[in-house]
Amino acid sequence: SALVEIDLPVFNTRVSPDGFERDAITAGGGVPGQAIIVNKGDSVDIALHNQLDDPSMRRSTAIHWHGFFQARTSYADGPAFVNQCPIAPGDTFHYVFDTAGQTGSYWYHSHLSTQYCDGLRGVFIVYDPDDPQKDLYDVDDESTIITLADWYHDVAPDAQDDFLKSGTVPIPDSGLINGRGRFVGGPLVPYAVVNVEKGKRYRLRLVSIACRPFFTFSIDNHEFTAIELDGVGHDPVVAQNVDVYAAQRVSVVLNANQPVGNYWIRAPPTGGNPNGNPNFDPQLTKAILRYAGAPEVEPTTTGGPTGHKLTDAEMHPIAQEGPGKLGDGPPDIAFNLQITQPNPPFFDINGISYISPPVPVLLQIMSGAAHPMDFLPSSQVLLIEANQTIEVSIPGGGAHPFHLHGHNFDIVRTSNSDVTNYVNPARRDVVPVLGGNMTFRFKADNPGAWFLHCHIDWHLEVGLAVVFAEAPAANRAGPHAQITPDDWLALCPKYDDLD
Ligand code: C2O
Repeated sequence: SALVEIDLPVFNTRVSPDGFERDAITAGGGVPGQAIIVNKGDSVDIALHNQLDDPSMRRSTAIHWHGFFQARTSYADGPAFVNQCPIAPGDTFHYVFDTAGQTGSYWYHSHLSTQYCDGLRGVFIVYDPDDPQKDLYDVDDESTIITLADWYHDVAPDAQDDFLKSGTVPIPDSGLINGRGRFVGGPLVPYAVVNVEKGKRYRLRLVSIACRPFFTFSIDNHEFTAIELDGVGHDPVVAQNVDVYAAQRVSVVLNANQPVGNYWIRAPPTGGNPNGNPNFDPQLTKAILRYAGAPEVEPTTTGGPTGHKLTDAEMHPIAQEGPGKLGDGPPDIAFNLQITQPNPPFFDINGISYISPPVPVLLQIMSGAAHPMDFLPSSQVLLIEANQTIEVSIPGGGAHPFHLHGHNFDIVRTSNSDVTNYVNPARRDVVPVLGGNMTFRFKADNPGAWFLHCHIDWHLEVGLAVVFAEAPAANRAGPHAQITPDDWLALCPKYDDLD
């Protein structure tokens, strides 16, 4: 393990991933931004240089390292006004944290307003030289990372304004696979190509970096074997297609065992009402699987998501992950989170719409807040104490992929089933709330301030979130208290709401 120093300049750029040129925000150039790749056990020191200067989009920023637990480094988690104040234009901020043995597929994105929809997002992979599942594949490198994104021709602040006026969640103009896509009537932008050799097995890392839709991923004429959900190794399950919700990651092993040729990779984005934007045709979200020796032409294969669709209920963590380690005893606290919309487009959870407090929740904890009534604004913060087993149930009604920071969780009941599983439930950090009563459990073993929210970024911005204040007393003691940097505290007064 090593300390890996990474420079991540964040700046404005012009991009045209689907052939329509627009202003955007990039981390290191391009959309998606620079990939961050480290090895198991590494620590990182990521110097985020905020060079944003285009006033049509947010110019302050704050970045979340999605899926990392941030043990004793809650201040490096990223969400603006939960864990830190935004980084003002012209400033550099160091995110220093330990990947602490976590391995697999992660990503990073702005966690200020809806800024990541303007491009500020990229992958973050932790390779394990001794991966216990290594015998299942031959190739696993940067060439096999597959990002799934939605893309909008409007800048996010304008799209969000339209949403507030019309009540209709922004509809993307295109879907992108590895940063390439097409819209109706647009130019024939070359699709991304994934190159394979016949006879080899590839670990494809599907990473959704989307603001809204989910993607139904499949490859014509091929099946695949799923082995990872959100950084957690799972026993292999064969499927022909999988729904990848916003912010989820799935590793699948593809056996390149078909005749040499070109095959469509398909990932139509769906979710919500896709009508209403004539540019958007989900079927245009494609890429090319090309065998060595095949001509450089587009595939003519037909197909789509037929056959078995992977479900969370059939996925079980590998033995090394400790399946079912929370047991089936009663939880110490159970939260039932009811989603309502008394004042659309705003969402309430148990009667309250989340708005950012004026002082980050973590700063409030560090300066003494300990009970829900101490927090500003008070009741959006849920208190949990050290080492409690927490159960969260979210009844469905609308598709919402919920993400918990600082932890992953055991999905003891998926949304589309009444069956509970405490023995070996799927473990991940984003789970969709669909029809039924989705329930997950986690252990409060990580003091901090942790967001739980819908990962449809447009929904987060209209209040679909709560914050856990986990073990506040432990936050104020031990190494965490000593490494809270003064320059972090100094950020708050520099933040201007207009940025
Ligand atoms: Cu990937 Cu709070 O988010």
